[in-house]
Amino acid sequence: MTMSIETPPRDLPMAGEPLYERLAEHYRRVIASGTLVPGDRMPSVRALMLRHQVSLSTALQVFRRLEDAGWLQAKPRSGYFVRRRTAPALPGVDEPENTSAPMQAQFVGLHESISKVISQAQRFPEALNLGGATAAASLYPTARLQALTIRILRHQPTLLTEAGGETAGAVFRQAIAKRALSADMMLSPDEVIATTGGVEAVNLALRAVTQAGDTVAIESPAFFGLLQIIESLGLRALEISTSPTTGMSLEALEMALLAYGNIKAVVVVPHLQNPLGSVMPDERKAGLVRLCARHRVALIEDEPYRELLDDAAQNKPLKAWDRDGGVIHCASLNKVLAPGLRLGWMASGRWHERVKMLKFAQSRNNESLPQLVAAEFMGSGAYDRHLFQLRERLRTQREATANAIARYFPTGTRLSVPVGGVLLWVELPPGTDSGRLFEEALTQGIRIAPGTIFSNSQRFASFIRLSCPQPFDQNLDDALQQLGRLASESS
Ligand SMILES: Cc1ncc(COP(=O)(O)O)c(C=O)c1O
Repeated sequence: MTMSIETPPRDLPMAGEPLYERLAEHYRRVIASGTLVPGDRMPSVRALMLRHQVSLSTALQVFRRLEDAGWLQAKPRSGYFVRRRTAPALPGVDEPENTSAPMQAQFVGLHESISKVISQAQRFPEALNLGGATAAASLYPTARLQALTIRILRHQPTLLTEAGGETAGAVFRQAIAKRALSADMMLSPDEVIATTGGVEAVNLALRAVTQAGDTVAIESPAFFGLLQIIESLGLRALEISTSPTTGMSLEALEMALLAYGNIKAVVVVPHLQNPLGSVMPDERKAGLVRLCARHRVALIEDEPYRELLDDAAQNKPLKAWDRDGGVIHCASLNKVLAPGLRLGWMASGRWHERVKMLKFAQSRNNESLPQLVAAEFMGSGAYDRHLFQLRERLRTQREATANAIARYFPTGTRLSVPVGGVLLWVELPPGTDSGRLFEEALTQGIRIAPGTIFSNSQRFASFIRLSCPQPFDQNLDDALQQLGRLASESS
């Protein structure tokens, strides 16, 4: 979707924020939507002042903000131009082959190897962690959340000692329902259920719609935590080819739905899929919702990363297309706001009552304090400002890490740099043993995620998932150089 720059927007984003921040966000969205493309000249300072009725200093602040964040480039005596993005230095990860061939559903047997990888990594607590999926603590709003926590506890001193939690739960659900409106999801607070992170939400969703022995269609590769859940519930996983750019193949899924009668659910991460980083285009999202509705199969949408997208506002969740309650939306604040909160939520459509009962049986209500802190933060303009800064920093970190990979990794390495988040899925030359690379890197003080834990097959044995959680520095550059050397030796 393109956006107009000719007419001043009636509703600038990020109400409550300083005007220059809101205007900067508006122009960032104009660029992200493709209305202004790299190399285009921006309106002049004077044009901006007239168009938005703002002072010279506000207009200059807008340009400086966009320039600092890397969206614009100033050219002496010519004005501001949309910055050209660094060209991708490596070819993208290969598209999967045979997208329409149905595969065999299998019981997942990865628990042991995933646990081994996790426990091996835990033996090197000092290792530089490039194997996780969250950003470094310094990128989250620590001070603000701390101040909020202290204030809330001062007002409600018995929050940690009294039973209940209904009031905090209601406040949190209200804040989530309000926020969901900006993603075109019309939810009433009563439809929202708080969970312990996204993992509990997906777990409950699968328990609500399946029984042991049933088949679940998933992306291939998939987040290893999902494979663990499927294994723990005694389900079979049917891995569907997934594009590193556009997500799960609808053609392959449709073939599978026709070929197998016992698929009870489809689980997808439509935005910034873990580990691929793919983003489903709107028409594919709409097509997926229609396909699952036609086959009466539950569609579980796992959404921990959407708000990390550079153009999150343009990307609506699958739930926005849901017409018959067939989509279970699972979300999390752990990657976008505060990993330590361990807070997630879900909207379960026609399985709401069942999920509510399962949640109550499993863990009762979530803790009050994290819910109140999150609700208050999300209700303020600070949330959008934080997301804006987080995305900018992650983009810089992704680009720097991708460039280092291009510099140091062996010839034949492929990489698709996603449009948000911290994850990079790296395809190493054929024959590379990512399990061995993982072990060798650990002994050198570097933690990565081997491709073997993202599928029940050996298809991704020569891939690794790398993250870029912290600001790029010499230490990181050295670590990636070392990793590149190890990868060259094992390929
Ligand atoms: C796709 C996906 N779903 C769910 C989760 C779990 O999220 P949470 O940390 O909120 O439990 C993750 C975390 O890495 C993930 O990548």
